[in-house]
Amino acid sequence: MSQPGRPVIFVDDDADLRAATAQTLELAGYKPTVFPSAVAALAAIDAGFPGCVVTDIRMPGLSGLDLFARIKQIDPDLPVILVTGHGDIDLAVGALKDGAYDFIAKPYAAARLIEAVNRAQEKRTLVLENRRLRDDAVERDGDLAFLGEAPAMRRLRATIRQIADADVDVLVEGETGSGKEVVADHLHRWSRRSSRNFVALNCGGLPESVIESELFGHEAGAFTGAQKRRIGRIEHSDGGTLFLDEIETMPLSLQTKLLRVLESRQIEPLGTNEVRPIDLRVVAATKADLGNPQARGSFRSDLYYRLNVVTLKLPPLRERREDIPLLFGAFLRRAAARFGRPVPELTRDALAHLERHDWPGNVRELLHFAERFTLGLAPEAVPATGDDPGLADASQAGLVARVERFEADLIRTVLQEEGGDVRRSIERLQVPRKTFYDKLKRHGITRAEYGNGPASSPD
Ligand SMILES: Nc1ncnc2c1ncn2[C@@H]1O[C@H](COP(=O)(O)OP(=O)(O)OP(=O)(O)O)[C@@H](O)[C@H]1O
Ligand SMILES: [Mg+2]
Repeated sequence: MSQPGRPVIFVDDDADLRAATAQTLELAGYKPTVFPSAVAALAAIDAGFPGCVVTDIRMPGLSGLDLFARIKQIDPDLPVILVTGHGDIDLAVGALKDGAYDFIAKPYAAARLIEAVNRAQEKRTLVLENRRLRDDAVERDGDLAFLGEAPAMRRLRATIRQIADADVDVLVEGETGSGKEVVADHLHRWSRRSSRNFVALNCGGLPESVIESELFGHEAGAFTGAQKRRIGRIEHSDGGTLFLDEIETMPLSLQTKLLRVLESRQIEPLGTNEVRPIDLRVVAATKADLGNPQARGSFRSDLYYRLNVVTLKLPPLRERREDIPLLFGAFLRRAAARFGRPVPELTRDALAHLERHDWPGNVRELLHFAERFTLGLAPEAVPATGDDPGLADASQAGLVARVERFEADLIRTVLQEEGGDVRRSIERLQVPRKTFYDKLKRHGITRAEYGNGPASSPD
């Protein structure tokens, strides 16, 4: 099926053929762009080009096969259809093996060209749609996102790109929820190590023996309970990145062992006498200010200096407030997609909260706020000051209830004092008889409780 309006690039050094083919493609509903040479065509092709390319093989300068090879570098999924003359069939078959989409032999019928273009276009549309879905999913999972336009964040991103490929270990400092893991993840993602493992280990909350075997691995029988050989996280991250979270909580003896690994770049799994070389980048994260000897506490200073070759500091969110709207917007969209809800309109109260709050939980707290706001579960977005009409309503409701209670008490007191005499009670209260009876009913008061004084007919 032809897909109206889709661009097709047609390359041929024969001007007449260019004109005729352009017309054929147009009639089939395509938007052809024709070029007399491969070089000219290349300038119009980028990785997301939504159409396909049809090119003659034999042309002066770059051939159609050269063009195909260049396009493969730009976007390996971009369909290229080769047009061959006599004797080029072998070349074309070779190109098909290399991933060219199709070939048509000259002279060809218009129908044959359109049929090939239709199929190529269908494939292209699918590829692009899948890419879009994948990108959306990535955005949704927040995987790719390292957002922030505050100067400190721009600088941080630039630094991460700059050192991603350098084999230096990195220490990431920042308050809880400020994005330390995001930084570690990008150091890995933007490095040549990205095709290998990113291995994370939280050093807090695990018993020392567990961290040790987690980190270094062990042979079967290395200690009681070690039935099988276990590859440690360090070895697992060979070629990749080892992320040590909450490094400040790492037990002292392990700090010593880790320091040895960092210096020697080799490991010795428990229960072996073997030494294995290891190629890894360590990214350690800490909430503590390890540069300050007081705050460092029992953390080994030599390990600190070893890790401190590069330290990346994440500013707390309250020191980059200009990023709050950007982050909040992205989190709202992501939450809405995840929960299958519409993206909520920002309310004045939500805005006030964004502006006034101090965000001790940093970006994570903002993320959770966005999720609750999307679900309509954000009490923070409720007005905090008395000048809001919403609040006035609420206190009014309280007033009405108080007045009601006061009225009921008053009626009971008067009835009591008058021994249940309704007429006298009505006189004292100065209300119409009907109103009096209505009020008794509404407050659930029965006159009989207050003695046998003469009743007054409610009329
Ligand atoms: N710059 C950012 N752009 C987009 N999302 C971010 C950014 N910074 C943090 N986040 C998100 O905020 C949450 C908290 O970030 P992260 O886990 O990296 O914080 P952390 O500093 O490691 O926290 P903790 O100290 O508690 O371990 C994550 O969901 C993360 O995706
Ligand atoms: Mg973390």
